[in-house]
Amino acid sequence: MPEHTKVMGKEWAEARRSANVARLGATLAAALAGRTGITFELGCGHGHWLAAYAAAHADEFCVGIDLITHRVERSVRKQTLGKLDNVIFLKAEAMEFLEALPGEIFLEKIFILYPDPWPKKKHHKNRFIQASSLDLLAKRAGPGASLHFRTDDADYFEWTRTHVETHGGWKLKAGNPWPFEQTTFFEERMKAKRDLEAERVP
Ligand SMILES: C[S@@+](CC[C@H](N)C(=O)[O-])C[C@H]1O[C@@H](n2cnc3c(N)ncnc32)[C@H](O)[C@@H]1O
Repeated sequence: MPEHTKVMGKEWAEARRSANVARLGATLAAALAGRTGITFELGCGHGHWLAAYAAAHADEFCVGIDLITHRVERSVRKQTLGKLDNVIFLKAEAMEFLEALPGEIFLEKIFILYPDPWPKKKHHKNRFIQASSLDLLAKRAGPGASLHFRTDDADYFEWTRTHVETHGGWKLKAGNPWPFEQTTFFEERMKAKRDLEAERVP
């Protein structure tokens, strides 16, 4: 590919990213006005889990995001049918969302259920859990916030455990049960459950 085409592609991607962050920032400022803390599900898929969680936790305000439009639309339908006024679902990329989140809003609980495991070694760089994403999650998490991660994939579980253990902003916690059971779309197709909990530390 010619060099100038590569440069234009990079500039275009950066401009698109900035536009996404600005648009999300405006949406979030309006939707979360007056709030300080949220329960956040990253990669909410069809919204099964977060819609049920929100229905059972009227005192928490929940935000679910996913990259895929039709999954977000299904999630929004669950919110509408359930007449849930304490949850919103947005189409958003996670790093852009975390960047766009207004400064006065903190993540109180973070849930990541069955994220894409990217099993091939050459694709591990695509896994959501990386030092950089743990940094950004920690930056946007309030003191004592919790991170809950569930996967069927043994290798991704071990990867996450190691990344969290060696990250200064999070401390692994053992022994607590998974906070809320509701089968997700992907969970129905999986055989194993591997859970991890971590707490935000100063
Ligand atoms: C394997 S699915 C699991 C969905 C849901 N949690 C469940 O258990 O049914 C992973 C989801 O994460 C979403 N996803 C992956 N990377 C993402 C990112 N960077 N930002 C937002 N969503 C993402 C995908 O679109 C997909 O819907």
